[in-house]
Amino acid sequence: MVFSGPIALAADHGGYALKEAIKAHLTKTGIPFVDFGTDSTASVDYPDYALPACKAVVGGRCAAAILCCGTGVGISMCANKVRGMRACCCSDTFSAEYTRRHNDANALCLGGRVVGEGLACQLVDVFLNTPFEGGRHQERIDKMMALENA
Ligand code: RB5
Repeated sequence: MVFSGPIALAADHGGYALKEAIKAHLTKTGIPFVDFGTDSTASVDYPDYALPACKAVVGGRCAAAILCCGTGVGISMCANKVRGMRACCCSDTFSAEYTRRHNDANALCLGGRVVGEGLACQLVDVFLNTPFEGGRHQERIDKMMALENA
């Protein structure tokens, strides 16, 4: 794994089952995580679960986040509103790889109603094991993060 520290996990009801599958996968592969909920399929609001997980990342308690909702989209929008977050909603391995290589993404967002558990675990593995390339991409990340003050 390229991240040093536990992975923050969070989901709403639409991503709950996928989060549980990812927890089992991380446990099996020996990757530490912190689970920020939700804890059932009862309806909840995804911003309430995105925020504490993202705060753990930007605050340093966790090294990156994996966030799940029904589509992965709503929770990724929430994550990208937290200063310091670079979240990508992915359902293909090319994007999961290049959002690490080029965007230095620190959150992978997945849709529990979009991807199956097998693909999701493959996306997680690619995301967690792909390094940022730096170089010209770092200059672009610097410009990206400056947009937080635009
Ligand atoms: C909840 O029904 C659903 O809207 C949510 O999980 C997510 O897909 C939003 O983007």
